[in-house]
Amino acid sequence: MASWTSEKSASATVIVEYLPSGDGTRKARRPPRIQWTWRTWLMCLAVVTLLFLVVSISEKVAQHFLGPRRTKDDPLENWGKPGTGTEELAWYPTDFLRDVVPLPCHSHNDYWRKVPLFTALYAGCTGVEADVWLRHGDLLVGHDTASLQASRTFHSLYVNPLVDILTRQNPSTDFYNDTRNGVFDTDPGQTLVLLVDVKTDGDETWPWVMEQLGPLRERGWLSYTENGQFRQGPITVVGTGNTPFDLVVGNKTSPRDAFFDAPLDRLEGSGFDATNSYYASVNFWDAVGQVWWKGEPSEAQLKKIRTHLREARSRELVSRYWGLPAWPIHVRNRVWQVLVEEGIGMLNVDDLDAATKQDWTKPGTF
Ligand SMILES: *[C@@H]1O[C@H](CO)[C@@H](O)[C@H](O)[C@H]1NC(C)=O
Ligand SMILES: *[C@@H]1O[C@H](CO)[C@@H](O)[C@H](O)[C@H]1NC(C)=O
Repeated sequence: MASWTSEKSASATVIVEYLPSGDGTRKARRPPRIQWTWRTWLMCLAVVTLLFLVVSISEKVAQHFLGPRRTKDDPLENWGKPGTGTEELAWYPTDFLRDVVPLPCHSHNDYWRKVPLFTALYAGCTGVEADVWLRHGDLLVGHDTASLQASRTFHSLYVNPLVDILTRQNPSTDFYNDTRNGVFDTDPGQTLVLLVDVKTDGDETWPWVMEQLGPLRERGWLSYTENGQFRQGPITVVGTGNTPFDLVVGNKTSPRDAFFDAPLDRLEGSGFDATNSYYASVNFWDAVGQVWWKGEPSEAQLKKIRTHLREARSRELVSRYWGLPAWPIHVRNRVWQVLVEEGIGMLNVDDLDAATKQDWTKPGTF
């Protein structure tokens, strides 16, 4: 807590010092009209940029020195370096998840990270996200079309590594021949949500997703519903983006092993529940609004949040907001805190390190 207070006062000092010296001299010469020439605009832009930088840097510095730090060695440090045997994507260090405590955080933009999927798992996130594009007869994974590469497929980045991890977690021995262990040693009953964000045409792409999940399905590792009952497995597949609801629920193959990402702000009076959906998500900015500098959601915003979360809970759906404010850091943290206090199902995070370096699921963390 101390760190956020000190940052705020540091940035406030900067504002006080800066404005009079830049503004005051101008005012002295020709008050009171300000001429909005391109120079003035440029000055404003420069001041805003400078303030932005100062706040960003001071928050980062404070976080670095004052925040608790991970002490574990990073087993993913040498990932992908030549000669390490990790140039192929489907590799991970044995036992790298041994001490990892799972947390209800959803790793957004997962494939941007140094090691897709593994970085999120190592941080303890129980939700990962893959943006998939149907291209040249395969599902490629990437944030936009420019980042697509033939080797970065849904198979190579997600399905194969998960099969690999779960195979190791479920050895067949004289003492154990079950197949239901999840990816986290410290909590084998914890499911990992694989959120598949379909970027290309839904009707065309979704059947490919279903087909490529085959290796996980065959081994009995997918959560499913049967006769209106949800049965949790090590992996829970949720379709979002262009995923067509009708295709997800219209698949009459029993049991059904993929779920929909329901609209969190439109649950009231709808048919979304745990038999067809798993997450209920919405863009925070669109559905709740912007949270300004103070970082405190207004009463009206809080009311909206409570309605959303209550509706999700009553349908046994896992609530999630995406597009949460990311900056300034104290605002982001305050919003995280409010959502945790209000009982959010899954916290969407871009900054894995900040989100997972302390156990914010415990009361009084912030
Ligand atoms: C393993 O599976 C077999 C048959 O499925 C069962 O009879 C046996 O008791 C199991 N062993 C253990 C250790 O669970
Ligand atoms: C329907 O579900 C089954 C397994 O549950 C899957 O194998 C199949 O590919 C799915 N079909 C479509 C069109 O999604």
